[in-house]
Amino acid sequence: MTTDHPMTNNQSREFVLVVDDNPTNLSLLRQVLKEAGFQVRLAEDGKSAIEQVERALPILILLDVQMPVMDGFETCTRLKDNPKTRDIPVIFMTALSDISNKLKGLSLGAVDYITKPFEQQEVLARVMVHWRMHKLTQKLQHLTETLEEQVAERTASLQQAQIRLVQQEKLSTLGELVAGVAHEMNNPISCLVNNIPEAKEHISTLLQALALYQSEVKQPSALLQQSLEDLDLEFVAEDLPNLLGSMHLSTDRIKEISLALRTFSRIDNTSKIPFDLHQGLDSTLLILQHRLKALGKRPAIQVIKQYGVLPLVECYPGQINQVFMNLFANAIDALEEANQQLGIEENRENPNCITITTSLKDQQMVEIHIADSGIGMSEDIRSRIFDHSFTTKGIGKGTGLGLAIAHQIVVEKHQGHIDVYSQLGRGTTFVLTLPIHGQFG
Ligand SMILES: Nc1ncnc2c1ncn2[C@@H]1O[C@H](COP(=O)(O)OP(=O)(O)OP(=O)(O)O)[C@@H](O)[C@H]1O
Ligand SMILES: [Mg+2]
Repeated sequence: MTTDHPMTNNQSREFVLVVDDNPTNLSLLRQVLKEAGFQVRLAEDGKSAIEQVERALPILILLDVQMPVMDGFETCTRLKDNPKTRDIPVIFMTALSDISNKLKGLSLGAVDYITKPFEQQEVLARVMVHWRMHKLTQKLQHLTETLEEQVAERTASLQQAQIRLVQQEKLSTLGELVAGVAHEMNNPISCLVNNIPEAKEHISTLLQALALYQSEVKQPSALLQQSLEDLDLEFVAEDLPNLLGSMHLSTDRIKEISLALRTFSRIDNTSKIPFDLHQGLDSTLLILQHRLKALGKRPAIQVIKQYGVLPLVECYPGQINQVFMNLFANAIDALEEANQQLGIEENRENPNCITITTSLKDQQMVEIHIADSGIGMSEDIRSRIFDHSFTTKGIGKGTGLGLAIAHQIVVEKHQGHIDVYSQLGRGTTFVLTLPIHGQFG
C-alpha cells in the first residue's frame, strides 16, 4: 500500500473534520477535500466539533475562528487541554488580513492556517502536507513498536543462546575432564582387579608351604623359632585372606564408579542413541554418593528406587544425565535446607527421602518422577524456577541455571515435558516425560 495519496485510504476510517458556521464554506471545503480523496466530516460550531471528536478522532481539523456558541480559539484550547485530543493537528481558517488572529491561533498550538476567501489549491496543498506528516508519524510509531518487539525477541533468543553455551561448555569441560579421569583410572584399576585373585592364590600357596615346612622341620633353629613367633603366623594366616577379600571388594567398587563416570560423561551430541535411563539414574546417583551421606545435623538421605520396566529411550545420554544431576542436586539442597530449620531429634523423625519412580506412560512415552521430602516451594517461586538465572540460593551456591538448562534439554532437545508439583514445607516432585523414539532435535 502506498501512503502517498489519501485516495488509497478511502476504505479506512481516517477523516478530516471541517468546523465552520458558514454552510457555503462547509460545502465548498467538503467538495475540494472529497475530490482529493479524503473522507470528510462537518461541524457547524465548536461545541458539536468537540462532541464529534470525542466519538472518533480525526487525523486533521480545519477550524474557523469566528463561530457562535464556542469560537475557534476556545475550541482549540479545549482540544489541546485534553490528552486524548491534544495531538490532532489543527489548521485555523482566518481572513487574509487578520495577522493577530493568525498569531494567536499558532500560539494556541495550531500547526498552520488557511486564509479566506479560500484558494482551492492552497487549501489542498496545506492539507496534503499535514496528511503526509500524519502518515509519517504513524509509520514512526509503528517502527518504534516493531523495534521494541524485535529487541525483546532478540534479548530472549540471546538468553537462550547463552544457556546453550553455558550448558555446552559445562558439558564438554566437565564431560571431557571426567571421561579423561575415568579413562586414566582404568589401567591401574584393571591391574588391581586382575592381580588380586592371583596374589590371593600365591599367598595361600605360601601359607600352605609354610605350614608344611613347620610340620616337617621338628627342630627349627633358635633364630627361625624367634622369627616365626614375631610373625604371629596364626594371626597372619587368618587375617591376610580377609584383607585381600576386602581389597578385592574395594577394587570392584572403584571399577563400578569408573564405569559410572564414563556412562555419565558421554558427550555424544551428534545423534540420539538408545539408552537405558535406569543406568543413567544409577550412575548419576553413584557420582553424588558423597552428598547423600549424613552430614552435621542432617541424617543420611535415603534413595528409594521404584523402577518400572522401561524400553531403551533414544536420547543424548550425556545431556539426560545432566538433567538427572541437576534435579538430584536440587533435591539434596532442598533436603539440606529443610534439615537446617529443624533440630537433630526432629530430623531423625523425618527421614530424608528421594524417591525415583519410572514407568511406561504409553507406547510412545516414559515418565520419571523424582520426589524429595525437602523444603518445597511457594507458588510464587514455583512459577519462576525455569527462568534463566532465577535462584533462591546464596551467592556462590546457586547460579540459577540448573533448571533452565534441564528445561532446554528436555523440551527443546528431546521434545519432552518437565512438570513440577510442590508444597511449601512438604516436598517437591519433578516429572519428566520423554518420547521413546527420538526425533531430530
Ligand atoms: N527440589 C526442589 N525443592 C525446592 N526448591 C527447588 C527445588 N528445585 C529447584 N528449586 C528452586 O528453584 C530454584 C532454581 O533452581 P535451579 O536449579 O535452576 O538453580 P539453583 O539450584 O538455584 O542454581 P544452580 O542449579 O545453577 O546451581 C532454586 O534456587 C530453588 O529455589
Ligand atoms: Mg540447581
